[in-house]
Amino acid sequence: MIVILFGPPGAGKGTQAQRIEKAHGLVQLSTGDMLRAAVAAKTHYGQKAQEKMAAGQLVSDDIVIGIIADRIKEDDCKNGFILDGFPRNVAQAKALDEMLNEEGVHLSAVVQMEVDDEALVDRISGRYTCATCNEGYHDTNLKPKVDGVCDNCGGTEFKRRADDNAETVAKRLDEYYAQTAPVLPYYAEKGILQRVDGMAAIDDVTAQINAVLAA
Ligand code: AP5
Repeated sequence: MIVILFGPPGAGKGTQAQRIEKAHGLVQLSTGDMLRAAVAAKTHYGQKAQEKMAAGQLVSDDIVIGIIADRIKEDDCKNGFILDGFPRNVAQAKALDEMLNEEGVHLSAVVQMEVDDEALVDRISGRYTCATCNEGYHDTNLKPKVDGVCDNCGGTEFKRRADDNAETVAKRLDEYYAQTAPVLPYYAEKGILQRVDGMAAIDDVTAQINAVLAA
């Protein structure tokens, strides 16, 4: 199964991708996470991506398409994967089609997570992750069961993203509406676009996505 989780910054793509990954044995492929790892490791790609990410702009297509093209060839992707944050414009969507054709596989579903803009800013400003395993949390919506201890790995160090500030979030939203939302008609025409209510509680959104994947 190959699934795209699609939505604006803060829609819950990463949160739901982690849950689907565990429940369905798929691999989460987050271009944002991959780029942040490249930035932290100061790789050639990371150095090129850093400035764009800090400004809330899209990183160039050649970098992200190259990253995904290499990653989906790895063995752990043979049973299927969830794309979180890719594609982000029509050129990336077309490049993905070519990659999947080459591998002889096809998209199972594109799940559009619909969330009001006002809720996105609150979600992003309250978000943090475990510094050890990257499990996602939120200051009010999704706290660890034991304060200060990661539910998943027991880690006690947490981190917040450099681009999760009000100014950059506004720019990321502008980029979403200008470049990423126009991908939706591309998948609607193919008949594989499914919408879920991303304003619902996290467990309810998971249930909606599971229903889409079971159909
Ligand atoms: P990326 O890392 O992909 O960020 P994003 O798309 O802006 O999305 P986020 O990770 O901010 O949000 P999310 O939808 O995953 O929400 P989450 O689950 O964390 O990209 C970062 C940058 O990298 C881009 O700006 C760009 O520069 C670059 N980039 C990445 N991919 C690229 C590409 N393909 N092409 C070019 N450039 C690229 O949830 C947010 C918070 O809300 C969490 O705290 C969570 O607990 C909470 N929450 C989640 N669901 C709910 C719910 N239902 N109710 C209440 N709270 C909820």
